[in-house]
Amino acid sequence: MASKKPHAIMVSFNLQGHIVPFVNLAIKLASKGITVTFAHLEFVHQQISQSQNSTQTDLFAAARASGLDIHYTTISDGFPLDHDRSANIDEWIANYRDRFPENVDELVRYLLQSDPSFNYFLVADTFCAWSEKIAEKYGLVNVSFWTEPALVFSLYYHLELLREKGHVPVNGRRETVDYVPGIRSINTRDFMSYFHDTELEVLHEYIFQAFDVVKTADFVLCNTVEELEAETISALRKKQPFYAIGPLFPPDFAVSNSLMPEASSGEWLNSKPPGSVLYVSFGSLATIDRRVILEIAGGLLVSGVNFVWVVRPGMVESGGGGVLPEGFEDVTRDRGVVVPWCSQKEVLCSRAIGGFLTHCGWNSILESVWCGVPMICYPLFTDQITNRKVVVDDWRVGINLCEGEHINKEEVAEKIEFVLSEKRSEELRKEIEKVRSTLEDAVTVNGSSERNFDGFVQQVRNKICRRCSH
Ligand SMILES: *[C@@H]1O[C@H](CO)[C@@H](O)[C@H](O)[C@H]1NC(C)=O
Ligand SMILES: *[C@@H]1O[C@H](CO)[C@@H](O)[C@H](O)[C@H]1NC(C)=O
Ligand SMILES: *[C@@H]1O[C@H](CO)[C@@H](O)[C@H](O)[C@H]1NC(C)=O
Repeated sequence: MASKKPHAIMVSFNLQGHIVPFVNLAIKLASKGITVTFAHLEFVHQQISQSQNSTQTDLFAAARASGLDIHYTTISDGFPLDHDRSANIDEWIANYRDRFPENVDELVRYLLQSDPSFNYFLVADTFCAWSEKIAEKYGLVNVSFWTEPALVFSLYYHLELLREKGHVPVNGRRETVDYVPGIRSINTRDFMSYFHDTELEVLHEYIFQAFDVVKTADFVLCNTVEELEAETISALRKKQPFYAIGPLFPPDFAVSNSLMPEASSGEWLNSKPPGSVLYVSFGSLATIDRRVILEIAGGLLVSGVNFVWVVRPGMVESGGGGVLPEGFEDVTRDRGVVVPWCSQKEVLCSRAIGGFLTHCGWNSILESVWCGVPMICYPLFTDQITNRKVVVDDWRVGINLCEGEHINKEEVAEKIEFVLSEKRSEELRKEIEKVRSTLEDAVTVNGSSERNFDGFVQQVRNKICRRCSH
């Protein structure tokens, strides 16, 4: 029994910011000699294929060609492919929570029956609250993968404590919280948006439920670096096996994981002087107030800097017409590029980029630090609010876009000029170099993330063997 090979069953979550590190995790597991079956939601598969103009049925073909034992399949979320999922999010979540597990069950049962020569275990995003049912039913060792910082994990983890003390819902108060194990001090202002909201929707309930579930997980993996969140991680580790294994970045071969077609601005960037270009992106998900877009456009006009701006169709909350002010693209034609989506790490690591105006998604932050690009922060919702604190207050590798309640183009221009001026942003650049080398060290052969990952793989192997020999 003990000689059976471990086989990870991985079912991915539907959001872009979760898909990217989850795919990288699959490759990382396979690179340690673990067999992987990876399932995307069917509609996610379709979206990725379409964005690549590809009829590819196996998104991991290149990974397998490079020698990794990764199998690929898709799984239905229960809706027809052309169903408009964003039109009724509550319906989708309720279905995902209540009915979708049956489809996962079918996949797991099929795998277990079709090849019993493996020891299977389950790897799911922490937001996949269904994992518990499946793991329990089949007695599978289970792993929960957290795509945000350990700080955010810990706050969700201690939701009940925060509620007892009356700090959640935040309800507009600004109070310092210093009693969460492993978190020395945080202002309630910096809590994730879901802790601020007083009215709980299906989404809130779902996420909070996911944190009841994660407490039962055999292992938790987090896309962070131990040295950067040592106290928080060591407090969490007293409760559960918790491994910092980040930053998880893509391998050398191609794996399609983008839900939107990526435009290339490489040639244009190469024609610009080093550090002269501001990269602006608010990520793949959030919508943003048109007023904010106008002030940022105004700030770009006033500052006169070069820029690459990711403007997703549909990123503005309301109103018809284009996202950008009329004539903006004409006026800035010789110094700006507007793209609907792009390969962000590639852009950030171009020598031409001198700053990143970001919504503070965790992947964006890791990529920006990795490429040594200081940030201007404009968080919109969810963990972005808390991540801003990490970037600006803890690591001091970024600044806030606006200090007050309201954003105006003069302040935007001032912040842009500050970050793009190598002299004025010298402190930020010094600090980012420290954090950057911490990230880099973590993923070297003897670095903390690499050692943690190896330790995790060893523990999983041991646990699988113990469980199957009983
Ligand atoms: C996909 O096809 C469309 C329409 O033919 C084209 O505009 C786009 O550039 C193509 N995208 C990729 C990634 O090849
Ligand atoms: C993990 O497995 C244990 C033991 O089977 C089970 O009790 C628990 O509910 C599972 N948790 C998750 C998150 O899958
Ligand atoms: C990693 O650590 C091992 C054991 O301590 C050592 O032999 C090896 O030289 C180290 N490798 C690197 C690249 O530092």
